[in-house]
Amino acid sequence: MAIIARHIGKEIGTPATRVLTDISLEIKDGEFVALTGRSGSGKSTLLYLLSSLDTPSEGKIEISGRDLQGISSEELYLFRNQEMGFVFQFHYLIAELTAVENVLMPTVKQGKKEQRRPAAEALLEQFDLKDKAHRLPRQLSGGEQQRVAIARSLIMEPKYLFADEPTGSLDSVNGDIVMKIFSDVNSQKKTTVILVTHEPDFAQLAQRQIHLKDGRVQPH
Ligand SMILES: Nc1ncnc2c1ncn2[C@@H]1O[C@H](COP(=O)(O)OP(=O)(O)O)[C@@H](O)[C@H]1O
Ligand SMILES: [Mg+2]
Repeated sequence: MAIIARHIGKEIGTPATRVLTDISLEIKDGEFVALTGRSGSGKSTLLYLLSSLDTPSEGKIEISGRDLQGISSEELYLFRNQEMGFVFQFHYLIAELTAVENVLMPTVKQGKKEQRRPAAEALLEQFDLKDKAHRLPRQLSGGEQQRVAIARSLIMEPKYLFADEPTGSLDSVNGDIVMKIFSDVNSQKKTTVILVTHEPDFAQLAQRQIHLKDGRVQPH
């Protein structure tokens, strides 16, 4: 199984500006891929398309054998909730909830909160946050907040993990910790990791890089 893009493109805004042009790629299940390129090259836009958060202007995307265009919004919601994890540059934790309650957010709608609580605690322990599980986000450092957000992205044991500049607001020590977590999740859980980064040192930790320039994939 894989994520497959066939000749996808994206125009944004009025008047329409072309952001992505004729992108075809295949990311096999279990791969760790870095999407690289300068600021404005289209990395985030491509990640949003590949992760079904946005729709292409042309072309087709298939994930795990499902054509994203032919799928109902409820089915898409369930698929995202159960099989996809998302991490962004800013963590978007809920300020009023403790770390462990934030991690458990994706389980609430399916009534699996208590069932998944031990898993949430285990993730926090694995990320060196065992003593801080009951703190609010503002009582945590930036690096700790981002690790809570990563734990939240993993609580449903997703098959795919999408990350958009997850180290972008971290210092290098915390950036390294976050990258180690992504590498470990990929190698231990066989989770497909698709990571947007403009930092070459981090991109090198992936098995493969897809480099964008002006909205096109650069051949290498
Ligand atoms: N909502 C939007 N409206 C207009 N232009 C946009 C919008 N989002 C992104 N763009 C443009 O699309 C291009 C690619 O953006 P983006 O995918 O965010 O690049 P990257 O993540 O590589 O920095 C940029 O030129 C950006 O200005
Ligand atoms: Mg971006």
